[in-house]
Amino acid sequence: MIRMKNVHKSFNGNKVLRGLNLEIEDGEIFVLVGKSGSGKSVILKHLMGLMKPEEGEVIIDNDDMTKLFGYKLYEKLMDVGMIFQMGALFDSMTVAQNVGFYLKEHGIRGGKKIVKSDIKKYVSESLEKVGLKGIEELYPGSLSGGMRKRASIARCVVYKPKYLFYDEPTTGLDPVTSQTIAKLIVAQQNELQGTTLVVSHDIVTTLAIADRIALIEEGKIEIVAPPKEFMKHKHPTITVFNEMIGGDLSLIGKQRNG
Ligand SMILES: Nc1ncnc2c1ncn2[C@@H]1O[C@H](COP(=O)(O)OP(=O)(O)O)[C@@H](O)[C@H]1O
Ligand SMILES: [Mg+2]
Repeated sequence: MIRMKNVHKSFNGNKVLRGLNLEIEDGEIFVLVGKSGSGKSVILKHLMGLMKPEEGEVIIDNDDMTKLFGYKLYEKLMDVGMIFQMGALFDSMTVAQNVGFYLKEHGIRGGKKIVKSDIKKYVSESLEKVGLKGIEELYPGSLSGGMRKRASIARCVVYKPKYLFYDEPTTGLDPVTSQTIAKLIVAQQNELQGTTLVVSHDIVTTLAIADRIALIEEGKIEIVAPPKEFMKHKHPTITVFNEMIGGDLSLIGKQRNG
């Protein structure tokens, strides 16, 4: 369960979050949409405890992330997997070393410490889950954008976090690759049975995967609703979304079945 309550955050007088409230239930795929610069990545950083607000609470289960520092925060973050916008793979490491990285550090959530010989097995399984079987020894530089994104998903799901956060997972990808990433997001949610938060400005993939969609504007959540209801709102941003998809609501749930 995630609860952000009355969160305020500004940078040098630029008020980015202005009393933001957000509630995400266990088991859902929740997509947060909003313009570039509206504060989506800032929200994710607050959920990771990496940024602290001037005011407000950021609760994940029983902990307020605004009050966790150092080792306590590190421990808490074993519950969370974050897929960064740029993939953020280490270019000097092979895919296997990248995917094994957090696993080595964290172990599997709720499990015991992993022995070295097992890491290889978990890494291979995880790569297979994201459709990248057998590419362990390649370096990130030789992968396509979609493959890099898959590898960074593999690096998170390998330690079975309860929460998966994706920052603009389809930005810079072509529409077909975007849909395969959307499908993968749904598959990982189904497998981990945790909670998924996706931050996006891509309405097509958002509709394909979301249980609920929230719109952030002016530092607050303006609208939260299931996709169909969300698209009916007479908000200027949602009007633009409707124009972008030509009113085609058959996109809703497209990657959720099978
Ligand atoms: N570390 C920072 N220092 C100063 N300003 C920041 C910082 N991080 C984000 N901002 C500002 O906060 C606003 C929201 O940024 P961000 O959350 O990255 O937007 P987006 O919705 O595109 O992810 C932007 O105006 C950005 O310039
Ligand atoms: Mg961002």
